[in-house]
Amino acid sequence: MLVTSRSAAEYRAMFDLSPADLTGRVLDCCAGGSGFAADVPDAIAVDPAYALGYDEMARLVRAGLRDGDRMIDANRDRFEWEWYGTTERRAAMRLDAAESFLADLRARPGRYVAASLPDLPLAADSVELALCSHLLFTWANQLDEQWHHRAIAELVRVARREVRIFPLVLQGSGEPVEFLDRLRSSLPANELREVPYRFQRGARHMLVIDAGTTSSTA
Ligand SMILES: C[S@@+](CC[C@H](N)C(=O)[O-])C[C@H]1O[C@@H](n2cnc3c(N)ncnc32)[C@H](O)[C@@H]1O
Repeated sequence: MLVTSRSAAEYRAMFDLSPADLTGRVLDCCAGGSGFAADVPDAIAVDPAYALGYDEMARLVRAGLRDGDRMIDANRDRFEWEWYGTTERRAAMRLDAAESFLADLRARPGRYVAASLPDLPLAADSVELALCSHLLFTWANQLDEQWHHRAIAELVRVARREVRIFPLVLQGSGEPVEFLDRLRSSLPANELREVPYRFQRGARHMLVIDAGTTSSTA
């Protein structure tokens, strides 16, 4: 799995975040080399790759920028460019995000927690909002429905207010995930909400789960 570096601007669009959404502690789960936690006053980032330490993360983040650009160039028709405008603008955002991530990882290592879904070393209700981008659903060809149940239940456990997940389609093909509707029916109150971000074809909605209700059977 690639360690990618998305910028805070991309996160704001992927999760349609308003300033009010960002009050209180925010969790970026499976954050990779993203610059979101560095940009938000009270954020925590989780990723198993953080166990590798700063030097190896720096190497992976730089490799991720290079490999990500190559993958995009080789598959241009899988993407819509209206949000980024140009490939150069996207690449510049990713580079800024990588630098911002690495500077923050060095300056505030306590914000970056090495852990993996579906078991987070965080107390119940310890964040207001939990965000998860490009792991759940994206990798549903490798991570099965039962794993998704457990991972989402864990995000709901640690979030006091809300969980937001984007995108909801498979990586590569952009096909819908077969078990999405079934999974949704077992979650607390939830909805699909269109977001302003555009990139992978077919990825226009996030899943918003009300973590304040406790009827999950996951
Ligand atoms: C494609 S990257 C997404 C990074 C970032 N959220 C983004 O949108 O650019 C997927 C990340 O998920 C992390 N990851 C893999 N398995 C995980 C798990 N079980 N729990 C949390 N993170 C995981 C990987 O280390 C990798 O950094």
